[in-house]
Amino acid sequence: MAACWHHYQVPVALLVAALTMMIMARPAAGSDVPTIAFDEGFTPLFGEANMERSPDDRTVRLTLNRYSGSGFISSHYYHHGFFSAAIRLPKDHTAGVVVAFYLSNGDVFEKNHDELDFEFLGNRRRHEWRLQTNVYGNGSTDRGREERYLMPFDPTAEAHRFSILWSSRVVIFYMDGVAVREVPRSGAMGGDYPSKPMALYATIWDGSTWATDNGRYKVNYKRGPFTAEFSDLVLRGCPAAAVMRHEDTAALQLQLGAAAENRDRCAGAEFELMTADYAIVTPRKRMEMRRWRQRQMLYTVCYDTNRYPAPFPECDVNMAERQKFWEWGESKVVRPRVRGRSGRRRPATQLVSLQQAD
Ligand SMILES: *[C@@H]1O[C@H](CO)[C@@H](O)[C@H](O)[C@H]1NC(C)=O
Repeated sequence: MAACWHHYQVPVALLVAALTMMIMARPAAGSDVPTIAFDEGFTPLFGEANMERSPDDRTVRLTLNRYSGSGFISSHYYHHGFFSAAIRLPKDHTAGVVVAFYLSNGDVFEKNHDELDFEFLGNRRRHEWRLQTNVYGNGSTDRGREERYLMPFDPTAEAHRFSILWSSRVVIFYMDGVAVREVPRSGAMGGDYPSKPMALYATIWDGSTWATDNGRYKVNYKRGPFTAEFSDLVLRGCPAAAVMRHEDTAALQLQLGAAAENRDRCAGAEFELMTADYAIVTPRKRMEMRRWRQRQMLYTVCYDTNRYPAPFPECDVNMAERQKFWEWGESKVVRPRVRGRSGRRRPATQLVSLQQAD
């Protein structure tokens, strides 16, 4: 190789390096965050027969078949943190299939649990997956705070990164490093802001009763099995307690409650969390988020004045946007991508009116 190393190749090498760095330096929250192997932070949760780990333990496949779904959980509860995975969803006909990547303490606090979700809702063949985010605090499930979006890519073709930042001040959902939803904590939100330590879950399961067009399309196991793949696993945060199944729930409640109360215990981790890139929403990031939401969002509680005449305190209401929301809402329609022809890609989403859609 050394013999081929002519002097004019040096600038080329430098150029390539510079270009590579420019590409890698795109605003990608969490891209510089170390990933871990499954064994370093996770434990199987259910359907272990339907869980497959790669030889290097950095990729996990979860399958739903007619016998079972599957899931894994972090080995600890965390009091705030940054949680991320690259996720690839099953292809073709996936109506009724739900893939979820979320934080929760619902197994410990039955009546007043906290939860932050990415929920992927399968669809019929040629219809796109939907993505939903939810925010619950202290059992606020009767005040649903969901949003739904179309993803600006085919989530079955390759893995994309989904991340949740949860600090004492703000929750931010990220997709491929782009902030897509921000829920700042405010006094008015009260207990609705998730405040007790949560574990991270990744699951696949049968959501036939509701996931696709309100349950109209159920899981068709003849089209299965359905497999979702998780890699680039990130767990950064302050561990509050070990997740142990068959644990004495009352004792665990006390332990998690005490961890939430003790500010000093996690002060270092909290400082690191709040000063990281992914915890700071610059004006530019906020603009990018707004544009993303205008393009991709199907539904937000913030603009559903039928359901919530007064918007939630964390809503950043923009009147022009709200007007548009009523114009398209769930009627936003996606044309399936044309595959394998000349490599040209159509825009992922197109807005059409309800009349055109049907
Ligand atoms: C959470 O709910 C419990 C009862 O379910 C209540 O006693 C407590 O005050 C609530 N906490 C907050 C922060 O609102």
